[in-house]
Amino acid sequence: VLSHVRRYCQKTPIKPIKLRISEAASGAELGAEVKVQGWVRSCRPQKTNLFLHVNDGSSLQSLQIVASSELNDPLLTFGSAVEVTGILKKSPHQKQSVELEADQIHVIGECNPVDFPLKVKERHSFEYLRQFPHLRCRTNAFSSLLRIRSEATTAMHSYFKENGFVQIHTPVITSNDCEGAGELFQVEAPSTGNEEDENFFSVPAYLTVSGQLHLEVMSGAFSKVYTFGPTFRAENSQTRRHLAEFYMVEAEISFTESLEDLTKVMEDMFRSATEHVLAHCAEDVDLFHKHVTPGHRETVDSMLKKSFPVITYSEAINILNRSSEKFAFPTHWGCDLQTEHEKYLVKHCGNIPVFVTDYPYDLKPFYARDNEDHPEHTAAAVDLLVPGVGELCGGSLREERLDLLRARLEEVGLEDIYSWYLDLRRFGSVPHGGFGLGFERYLQCILGVDNIKDVIPFPRFSHSCLL
Ligand code: 4AD
Repeated sequence: VLSHVRRYCQKTPIKPIKLRISEAASGAELGAEVKVQGWVRSCRPQKTNLFLHVNDGSSLQSLQIVASSELNDPLLTFGSAVEVTGILKKSPHQKQSVELEADQIHVIGECNPVDFPLKVKERHSFEYLRQFPHLRCRTNAFSSLLRIRSEATTAMHSYFKENGFVQIHTPVITSNDCEGAGELFQVEAPSTGNEEDENFFSVPAYLTVSGQLHLEVMSGAFSKVYTFGPTFRAENSQTRRHLAEFYMVEAEISFTESLEDLTKVMEDMFRSATEHVLAHCAEDVDLFHKHVTPGHRETVDSMLKKSFPVITYSEAINILNRSSEKFAFPTHWGCDLQTEHEKYLVKHCGNIPVFVTDYPYDLKPFYARDNEDHPEHTAAAVDLLVPGVGELCGGSLREERLDLLRARLEEVGLEDIYSWYLDLRRFGSVPHGGFGLGFERYLQCILGVDNIKDVIPFPRFSHSCLL
């Protein structure tokens, strides 16, 4: 039997082990013949040797390939796709612990360096890269960002799973305008010429601005629910923190008596997700904190060190009124807080996240709970403001009392549309509340990225829907 096996092995060449570059660069299969595939990040032909760096997106690291200069090929250029086979060895150089001594290099996809908008060894600004949403993922900074975004998504889901929440897939197409702000994208089917088919859903339908009302339905059965999905707002504002399509993490919790119950979940979720990202994406986060947004790590560390202060809206207005800062929008009780005010409040509180509670009742949507016992007419609503961004989360206790909710809906002429919502107060209503966190703003906050368009793979905003 042994001689059969020996003969079989001699006839059958051993297949190289296929590795991802993160595995190869960490020294898996040292001494073995391996195959890696990826895109060339640099190519340095020398007299006798050729040095390549190849990256496949599995981590920030590129693998150093060393080959005889006989394997050089004019098609081996920055950006080209390659497959390399060779022996994985300890590297004699200090910069990396492992290198691949190549015996075969195959160019899978050419990349003309003259036409390619990314240039080798050049650090392109985020603004420049925004012109190339189809190519910017090939840069170190943007690929790090997308790995962090992916891990932060996992972190959010893990938080909710560990804390007993049920995930709900709330609909993207809906007939409600949860926020009542009139920022709806209407959904229409193409015309068939047949009048009966003209209105596909028989009612006006929109892309969702928030999954909150659907979550409220589900909180009446599961107590603790959340959703994490795309959200749409037809906002015409071209700002550094608004998109027409963004991702929102929303939670809804039944048997919630006070805003403190909500702020505790918001703060825990923020901490838990951030600690997860720092632990699981250390290398990518480091790239940002050292080279892209230097100095931001201290801000993140100080955010995690202290517990988040809580101030009321009235206290916030007093702080703003007393400040010597010249605001573009003057402040008075009853005014909406603008980004400049939010950023000032964050600085005033020590450049850490701060909760602002109990907003004027008239500033909040119909679902917010009336704080009847307050001297000023306020709603039990809370925003979380964070460094560099301003508002990150918006939440409230929901009006669970049938008579008050009905009166409010009648006031705004919505009682017919929301008869199902009133039913929730009729059949087993409980005190409950929830919040929504803007996921892109969260990434801006932990990475120190100035413009929201740089933390989402394909940004959508007014007059721009590239790709
Ligand atoms: O404060 P908002 O409008 O709250 C709601 O939609 C609630 N119904 C959520 C809930 O209670 N379930 O939005 C929540 C967060 C904001 O704090 C902000 O971070 C983000 O969503 N957001 C946007 N992010 C990017 N682009 C936009 N146009 C955004 N509008 C809101």
